[in-house]
Amino acid sequence: IAAKTQFFFLFFEVDVQGRVRLVMESALTARDRVGVQDFVLLENYNSEAAFIENLRRRFKENLIYTYIGSVLVSVNPYKDLEIYSKQQMERYRGVSFYEISPHIYALSDNAYRAMRTERKDQCILISGESGAGKTEASKKILLYYAVTCPANDHMAALGEQLLQSNPVLEAFGNAKTLRNDNSSRFGKYMDVQFDFRGAPVGGHILNYLLEKSRVVHQNHGERNFHIFYQLLDGGDDDLLHKLGLERNPQKFQYLVKGNCPRVSSISDKNNWKVVMKALSVIGFTEEEVQNLLNVIASVLHLGNTQFGEGEEGETFITTETQMPNLAELLGVDGSALGNALTHKKLTAKGEEMITPLNFEQAVSARDALAKAVYGRTFTWLVEKINQSLALKVHTMPSSVIGLLDIYGFEVLQHNSFEQFCINYCNEKLQQLFIELTLRSEQEEYETEGIAWETVQYFDNKIICDLIEEKHKGIISILDEECLRPGETCDVSFLEKLEDTLGGHPHFVTHKLANGKTRRVMNREEFRLLHYAGEVNYNVNGFLEKNNDLLNRNLKEVMCQSDNQIVSQCFRREEVMDQKRPEMAATQFKNSLMKLMEILMSKEPSYVRCIKPNDGKQAGKFDEVLVRHQVKYLGLMENLRVRRAGFAYRRRFEAFLQRYKPLCPDTWPNWHGRLADGVSLLVNHLGYKPEEYKLGRSKIFIRFPRTLFNTEDALEAKKPEIVIVIQSAWRGMKARRRARRRRQAADLIRRFIKGFIYRHEEYCPENEYFLDHIRYSFLKNLIKNLPKSVLDKSWPTPPPLLYEASEYLRVLHMRNMVVKYCMRVQPEWKKQMVQKVVASEIFKDQKDSYPQSVGRLFLDTRLEREQINLKVTQTLGSEKVQYGASVTKYDRRGFKPRPRQLLLCNTFAVLVDRTKIKQKFDYMALKGISLSSLSDGMFVLHMPVSDKKQKGDAVLQCNNAIELVTKVAMMADKMDHVNICPGSIKFVMSRGKEGIIDFIRGSEMKVSKGRRGHLLVVSHTSVFAM
Ligand SMILES: Nc1ncnc2c1ncn2[C@@H]1O[C@H](COP(=O)(O)OP(=O)(O)OP(=O)(O)O)[C@@H](O)[C@H]1O
Ligand SMILES: [Mg+2]
Repeated sequence: IAAKTQFFFLFFEVDVQGRVRLVMESALTARDRVGVQDFVLLENYNSEAAFIENLRRRFKENLIYTYIGSVLVSVNPYKDLEIYSKQQMERYRGVSFYEISPHIYALSDNAYRAMRTERKDQCILISGESGAGKTEASKKILLYYAVTCPANDHMAALGEQLLQSNPVLEAFGNAKTLRNDNSSRFGKYMDVQFDFRGAPVGGHILNYLLEKSRVVHQNHGERNFHIFYQLLDGGDDDLLHKLGLERNPQKFQYLVKGNCPRVSSISDKNNWKVVMKALSVIGFTEEEVQNLLNVIASVLHLGNTQFGEGEEGETFITTETQMPNLAELLGVDGSALGNALTHKKLTAKGEEMITPLNFEQAVSARDALAKAVYGRTFTWLVEKINQSLALKVHTMPSSVIGLLDIYGFEVLQHNSFEQFCINYCNEKLQQLFIELTLRSEQEEYETEGIAWETVQYFDNKIICDLIEEKHKGIISILDEECLRPGETCDVSFLEKLEDTLGGHPHFVTHKLANGKTRRVMNREEFRLLHYAGEVNYNVNGFLEKNNDLLNRNLKEVMCQSDNQIVSQCFRREEVMDQKRPEMAATQFKNSLMKLMEILMSKEPSYVRCIKPNDGKQAGKFDEVLVRHQVKYLGLMENLRVRRAGFAYRRRFEAFLQRYKPLCPDTWPNWHGRLADGVSLLVNHLGYKPEEYKLGRSKIFIRFPRTLFNTEDALEAKKPEIVIVIQSAWRGMKARRRARRRRQAADLIRRFIKGFIYRHEEYCPENEYFLDHIRYSFLKNLIKNLPKSVLDKSWPTPPPLLYEASEYLRVLHMRNMVVKYCMRVQPEWKKQMVQKVVASEIFKDQKDSYPQSVGRLFLDTRLEREQINLKVTQTLGSEKVQYGASVTKYDRRGFKPRPRQLLLCNTFAVLVDRTKIKQKFDYMALKGISLSSLSDGMFVLHMPVSDKKQKGDAVLQCNNAIELVTKVAMMADKMDHVNICPGSIKFVMSRGKEGIIDFIRGSEMKVSKGRRGHLLVVSHTSVFAM
């Protein structure tokens, strides 16, 4: 049954909003409405129309993702779809790629799992034309990893830094263009490093070919890089004042060219806050941020630096007043900068010569400086971000996932040097794709033990060679033309190309072309037949852009800057080095080679992004535009390579699980070898040998039709299966219910019987009942045990547990006592012992005792300083253990006198200031008498025979109970303390007897009474201790 229900779950899935969605391979059954979710299942895989129709159908249903095997095709929806939530991430986590509808998360998860299980580095290559959604896709992938990967605090912080690097790079490297309000004007490759647990531990970014020309010029309707507008809109007044900037962007020459200071979809002010916060999260110091803003402001000031022409053709700066500001921001010397902007330094025959620049030269030197400063600062920024993302020393990266967000094929009306580089990059990526896809196909065939079948595809190596080959390639020729002495220009470069490459099947110029092509080509253009289609390039500006020169004297000024960023960007060694730096195209070629090496070492996944219309509109599908992209993304070529062998492949268990109801031998369960089960199934379905092959763990089906027929058969079979499953399920539920009812009735019967026999001996009739009673009592007891020794409560036991309950009660009490004793500190123990003695002597004997119980006995009532030094000296080695102030009543006349009573180890003394008046040896002490009332009187009885003694001492003290307890304990005379109701007799000197009478009264009073007695009137609660 479990297997059958599981089978059902394969068809429908309820999404987070509770809607039922068709998912997994079940979408196969809805192919008329939503198309196929994998292009390899297109019947006519050579038809571009069928391809686009499939895209369109899905796009209309908001299904923007479709696979070509492991390639994900994504169409920009231009609206927020609710498919990127955390719940959605959970949906895709750990789920097999093909089991659920296509998604960027499925691809991310698949790459992540492959990295973890196969321990192989992965890369995700995202391409597409401007505005197609590459950057958005890369951000979604990063977010997926940041949210779903296991992470501790440090790793979460790193994840946050990875995410925060986006707004910073976008502020400095993105701009509004006609095609995209947030167009990335640089290529980006980012490595995310994971440790052995799969947690992100580091990152690294490589940047490619920033479009520097945008710093000084923008086409109509476009803007400069976002950061300039963010600074002007978001920076506070103080900051702008410090940077010498006005808030209005129209005041800056470098920002007015496109005539588009504001973009409705962008809030520069908010983005400024986001960028500033991101900079601090990434770890930029305040000083670094200030230096960075100085550089940005300096570029704006450079743009406003204007030149005039003197009478003799010399050039001078007309905006002298703002030069000091500019120089300060750049951290350089103002006059040196002014000079370098209007003069050129040449070295001829080992001698340096300074020559003035003409007007145009000065303007282009200024622009070159602005581009160099901005471009190098951007590279510095990337490096700085890399430092903060760098692996910490103690972490060991285990594997890497790389993300490449790079411009796709660009075919504009006028294509220049930049498009040439971009399209060259795409040729290289296509080559990599072919190589890696074929390699993995071949590997799969090999592991599955299937013979390799040759795949027909177009190998674009010939075009890559045309561009990059040493000496003969376009880049080499361009470099040569730049370096060649003598008059060179863009046209001479074109001629050189014609001379060298004329006749190449992928290269045409106006001169070389036939009549038809010639009509659509300009004389200054050359055409390359790229794998994806042809592109005409205009050679104007090729030489200058490839040269990318900055006058030497400008470099010299910059490398002396005291702005930390500028001085790191312009190194002194660069000026010293006489060797010419590499040309721009060669630099790009070399960085591409490195990128290819990086990508080759990894397992690739692809995201191909498509823009549905030029108007950034939701829901609009412009077929012409999409067809163009399908062509230039090489998607048909992708599909051909992927479909070269088999359209569909699945692991045996997945195939069997889905289609087993179609064969009586495999339904409901197949217990034999999987391969045998699949073999039986396809034989039963009547597959012909050329339609499929069985590998070691997978079945390969050549044509989608075969699969669709199988799918349709399953569809037809479903009602039958539903009935089987329903009846099995209902039967099982009914049986379970009946069993439960039987069990309940049985239980009730036993209980009633047990109740009737409850007073009998333990026997089968009552055993359940009695056990239950016992069990209930013990469960109740556990919850209600007394918590302290003073709590005498105890649950009433049932009669048969009286004895056991009593044992338990005693045991529990003993336990609590033991626990209590173990917690008692020595100090507290001493106190307790004294209190116990006091209790034995005074409890129920003396009125003042109950009040004394709650008060602690002190170690002494006299501090050391209160005892006279002479007394201490007289006592010598005998230490005073306890002392208290007492009143001594004269034996004759009962005059009260203040004294101190000091207890030593073997005797006590009565002290009058400096003198010891009387000594009481404990050995000799006959007894101690007290009244039963609440006075503080006590009498120490001494032997009459001792001539040295002055008789008994009549004393009174505020803490009589404490004092007497201490004396009794020290003298070991606990049995000699007498509590006398009414009166106490005592001995005066020479054997004469005195009497103290005690009575209760309203006021405490000690006075001479009748017959020479001492009369003590005690008032309850005066002497507490
Ligand atoms: N999955 C998506 N969901 C919703 N909107 C999207 C999605 N992908 C892209 N967009 C929209 O399209 C715009 C352009 O996308 P993005 O910046 O990613 O393009 P791009 O391919 O990186 O272009 P460029 O090459 O110019 O950098 C985004 O600003 C966003 O408004
Ligand atoms: Mg982008």
